[in-house]
Parts: sequence; C-alpha cells; structure tokens
Amino acid sequence: MRTPIIAGNWKMNKTTAKAAALVKEMTPRLTAIPGVEKVVCPPFTALSAVKEAIGDAKVGLGAQDMYWEEKGAFTGEVSPVMLAELCQYVILGHSERRQYFGESDDGVNRKIVAAFAHGLTPIVCVGESLEQREAGQTEEWVTDQVQAALMGLPAEQVRRLVIAYEPIWAIGTGVPATAKDANAVIGGTIRGALAEMYGDEVTQAVRVQYGGSVKPSNVAEFMALPDIDGALVGGASLKANDFVEIVRLTAELKW
Ligand code: PGA
Repeated sequence: MRTPIIAGNWKMNKTTAKAAALVKEMTPRLTAIPGVEKVVCPPFTALSAVKEAIGDAKVGLGAQDMYWEEKGAFTGEVSPVMLAELCQYVILGHSERRQYFGESDDGVNRKIVAAFAHGLTPIVCVGESLEQREAGQTEEWVTDQVQAALMGLPAEQVRRLVIAYEPIWAIGTGVPATAKDANAVIGGTIRGALAEMYGDEVTQAVRVQYGGSVKPSNVAEFMALPDIDGALVGGASLKANDFVEIVRLTAELKW
C-alpha cells in the first residue's frame, strides 16, 4: 500500500511572514486528517520560517528546486546541503524550470542524484506540452523524461522517490487533464517505464502524483483511480481552505 501524498507547490508566492501565517493556519487542520502525507513547498526565502511554524507537527517541508553541487562559486544557487538542514523534499524538473530556465533532462538527473546523496526526497516532475499531446507523442516523451531523470539511480532510491505527472497544458490553466487520461499516463506510461528499468516490485512502491489545475472540485476524480497516489497542487495550495479540502477528500477516497 502506498501512502498518498499531497504537496503544495507555492511557486514564487508569499513573503516570509505570509508563508508562516498560512502554514500556522493550515497545520492543525492538516494534522487532524489521517492517512495522507502532506507537504508544503514555499520559496527558499520562507523555508526557515515555515519550518519553525510547522514545529513538531506532521507536515512535510520541501523546496522547489536546488543545484546539484554542495557548495562553491555558483551565484544565486542553493545546494542540497543547505536544504537538508531545512526540509525533507525537493521538487525537481518542474516544467516551469524546464521552460523558463533552460533546465535539461541531464540537469534534472544530476539534481536527483544529489538530493538522494543528502537525504532529500525528490518530487520529480514530467509531462508533455499541448503540441506533443496533439501530435500523439505523449507516451514517447514522458517515457524519455522518466528514463533520463532516473538514469543510473539504484532501485533502493527509486522506490522512495515521488513522481509528479504534470501535463504542461493543464498547469495553471484551470483545465485539468481528464482523470482517465492522467491514469493512462501514470499507470501505463510512467509505471511502464519504471517497470522496464526496475521491475514490478519497485514500480509498485513508487508514488506518482497528478498535477495541473487540481482543485477541491476535481481532486476526487483523480484520487478515485488506483494508480494515482496524490497530487502536486499549485494555485489551490495557496488557500488554506482549498488545500485542506484537497487533503481531506484524498483521505476520504484513499484511506
Ligand atoms: P496548478 O500548478 O495547480 O496551479 O495548475 C500545478 C503545478 O505546477 O505544480
């Protein structure tokens, strides 16, 4: 049995004070919901304050990116060593990083290796563009992304990582994938690629989320499907009521 995981990707939103306030508001409500792992991913600048606001509560903390080197002359970058002091998770390979900041498959792979080396759990994002979907290239593209991201990783690490399937055309648009399409990519393409690389037992251990316009009004459709183990939530994770409701509905369906 895989524990469902709902992660909030706050993107470039919230000052330190507002981030801490949002977490303080949500934490007691989130921790009252059993059977679902909850993670918030604020901007780097708010990690410390959010860590303090969470305290001993069972809410995970993640960063939205990192560099793969431990330290050195890399102006503007944040290393896994720095993150390991603050959080447990790191989102890697988000499509906005790939699209706007030139992140390559090779870079994503290096970051995943570095994250594991420092005890961080990566949430690895993959997903196709609208043009690729319309051209019937989704399966090939997503398979390639999964294979490139995991290259050289040992099975005992792969079984612990989280993959987020986020079709680019569904992110921030208010138009999610259909649950049927998401389940086909997650259960077929992503788990298929994992099975080819690592076999069935590891494949069944890996948690795969859906991401892209997840809201309280549509989350149940996704969570009803057995291959989908949670969600990576952008916009709706910035509102306490919405995020708590998404977690609650996930618990209702999966626990
Ligand atoms: P969205 O973002 O929920 O706002 O579509 C999801 C994501 O980018 O992780």
